[in-house]
Amino acid sequence: MAQSKHAAIERSVFLMIVLTLLTVSVGGLVEIVPLFFQKSTTSPIDQKGNELAVKPYDPVRLVGRDIYIREGCYNCHSQMIRPFRAETERYGHYSVAGESIYDHPFQWGSKRTGPDLARVGGRYSDEWHRVHLLNPRDVVPESNMPGYAWLDRPAKVDNIQDKMRALNKVGLHKYSDDEIAAAPEKVKGITEIEAVVAYLQGLGLALQNVR
Ligand code: HEC
Repeated sequence: MAQSKHAAIERSVFLMIVLTLLTVSVGGLVEIVPLFFQKSTTSPIDQKGNELAVKPYDPVRLVGRDIYIREGCYNCHSQMIRPFRAETERYGHYSVAGESIYDHPFQWGSKRTGPDLARVGGRYSDEWHRVHLLNPRDVVPESNMPGYAWLDRPAKVDNIQDKMRALNKVGLHKYSDDEIAAAPEKVKGITEIEAVVAYLQGLGLALQNVR
C-alpha cells in the first residue's frame, strides 16, 4: 500500500511539484521566520550598558549614505566582516545583525574589489578620506579605485525630512518630530563629499574596540 502511494507521487509531475514546494517552504519557514522575532536580529546591539551603541543615522550621514548608494560604492566594497580569523585580524570584530538594523537597504554585499568598509570609521582622518575620494592615487599610488572629483559640490538636501519620515515607516527608526524639524538646519550647505566622509567615519564604531 505504502509503495503504491509513493509510485503515485513519482508518476505525477504535478503532485511531485506541489509536494516538493510544500516541503521546501516548510523547511525554509522553520529556518527564516524565527529570525524575525529573535532579539539579536531585530534590536540594535547594546554594548555600553543601557546606551544603545547603534543609533539611527543623523541627517548628515543619511545624505552621505544615499550618495554612497548612488555612486555604486557597493559594487566594489562590502560591509560585512565574516567570522573568520583572516577577516577579523584585518578588519576587526565580525559583523553582527544588530549593527545594520537601521540600514534600508543594507549594504552587506560580497563584492570586494576594494576592502570591506564595515569598520572603516575612525581608521583615517576626514582629510585623508577627502583626498582619497577626489583622487585615490594621491594617497594610495597603486589604487584602482575611481576618483569622485564631482562630489565636491553642494549636496541635495531639500528632501531630508521626507527621507526621515519614509524611514520611520519602513524600519525601526523613530525620528521624533523635533529631530525631523531640526534636520534641514543640520544639513544646510553641506557638500556631497562632507556627507560621504561623515557616513564613512561612523561605520562600525559600535563594535570597533571589541576583539
Ligand atoms: C572599482 C572599484 C571601486 C569603487 C567603485 C569604489 N572603490 Fe573604494 N576602494 C577600491 C580599492 C581597490 C581600494 C583599495 C585601494 C585604496 O585604498 O584606494 C579602495 C579603498 C577604499 C577606502 C579605504 C579603505 C581602507 O580600509 O583602506 C575607502 C574608505 C573607500 N574605498 C571608499 C569608497 C567610496 C565611498 C566609494 C564610492 C564613492 C568607493 N570607495 C568606490 C575600489 C573601489
